Amino acid sequence: MEMWLCGTCKHLAVGGEAPNQCPVCGASHDRFQTFSEGAQVDEQDQIVGSVTEGNLKSAFATAAQANRKYLAMAAQAELEGETEAGEAFRLVAEDATHTALALAARLGWLRGTLANLEDSVDGEKYESETMYPRFAFQARQEGFADVATYLEHLAAMGRDHAGRFRETTGLVRADLGRAGAPAAPPHRTDAGKPFQR
Ligand SMILES: [Fe+2]
Repeated sequence: MEMWLCGTCKHLAVGGEAPNQCPVCGASHDRFQTFSEGAQVDEQDQIVGSVTEGNLKSAFATAAQANRKYLAMAAQAELEGETEAGEAFRLVAEDATHTALALAARLGWLRGTLANLEDSVDGEKYESETMYPRFAFQARQEGFADVATYLEHLAAMGRDHAGRFRETTGLVRADLGRAGAPAAPPHRTDAGKPFQR
């Protein structure tokens, strides 16, 4: 994964090339420099367990939710013929995507595909075995039977997702073995659960 650091605002751009312009502060292309994996890991080690790490996780959740919410609102605006509102929602949704990717990178969640898959299996397991069953139980207790049923279906979907990631993990491990690649970084059990506060 190539990452680029804005020398002005410290935004981390995730992607193949540095952006033409920083989406956060507007700095030009030449203000970006490659952000090395080593620098990311050092920073991550220092931030683990701090209030700031918790705040960055909350900011990631907010930006990721804003992205999905604004895309839904863009679709509604377009259905209503409100083209300019649709464009505004899509523009801000795109900025929210940049923000969420930058925060994920700064939190050290982009650590290579094998590690990412292992973290994601944990995240889907948590959703399907703990989070959605508890939410469904509580919904049923409060008399929201339809909501409970829906949440139980989401738990089943999470099990499918975990299975898909698990299968893919085996394939990637085989690929890395053939290529003689170095071992993945240590497994972080919290990285698959970015939405937990
Ligand atoms: Fe910037």
